[in-house]
Amino acid sequence: MIIVSGSASLSLSKTLANEMGIKLANTESRRFPDDECYVRVHDNLDGEEVVLVQTTYPDEKIIELFLLQDAIKEFDIKKLVTVIPYYGYARQDKKFNEGEPISAKILAKHVQLSCDSIITVDIHEEGILNWFDIPVKNISGMPQLGSFLKNLDPDIIVAPDKGAQDLAKIVAGVIGCKWDYLEKTRIDGETVEMKAKNLSVSGKKVAIVDDIIATGGTIVKATEHLKSQGAIEVYAACTHGLFTKNALPRLQKVCDKVISTDTIENETSVVSVAREVAKAL
Ligand code: R5P
Repeated sequence: MIIVSGSASLSLSKTLANEMGIKLANTESRRFPDDECYVRVHDNLDGEEVVLVQTTYPDEKIIELFLLQDAIKEFDIKKLVTVIPYYGYARQDKKFNEGEPISAKILAKHVQLSCDSIITVDIHEEGILNWFDIPVKNISGMPQLGSFLKNLDPDIIVAPDKGAQDLAKIVAGVIGCKWDYLEKTRIDGETVEMKAKNLSVSGKKVAIVDDIIATGGTIVKATEHLKSQGAIEVYAACTHGLFTKNALPRLQKVCDKVISTDTIENETSVVSVAREVAKAL
């Protein structure tokens, strides 16, 4: 088995290669003067089971993924597993308005054309997996985030909404602490309160866990509410740290720690999903 890394997932690919004790192929990825993508795999992949690792964010990494799949398939390989650490477009998994595409579906249809199976990590909506016609497995970064958070000794793990409660449950299970989710209550036309559904956070260290942090709006609001209700420290942890629109400095102003995994590589990626990917492989 050999790993080929796309340029969006270099750190995770290296960690995965070390974890599995297998080789990381020598690849090249650059841009032509007109910004089109050029890739080349310098190792001979004949006879290999190949694992390609590439996050589909930002958009240009999607084209690079397709080119790498084709470059790999041009060798006489045994099989190709594509690992998509962050599966983009997953939040447009239905038509919210007439005339819109189902973006998550069209990405699934294309990404499976040149490989034998797929691994995703904390895909935003598991229903997307049904659009693949080849074997696909979704794994979670939550067990590893839980191991990291355990060192910070939080009292409660909270999900920012009911939909993310399963994530909080996994992390709390690893740590051996309580979990809850935040419920929004409309006080009046202009005021919304966010409160842990069942537990008091007063005097507690709280960790909020979510699959994605994008603009950071959800977590900033949740943190402000938790602190106003007496939480002494609030940590924010997610699998996919997109951190768009200056999200990180805004989060770091209110949260005592911001952590993410290496599905999207950035300065908060202190947790690797490599072990879970290795297990799935
Ligand atoms: C929503 O369903 C997701 O799980 C995240 O809560 C959301 O994407 C976070 O977005 P933002 O950081 O922009 O508030």
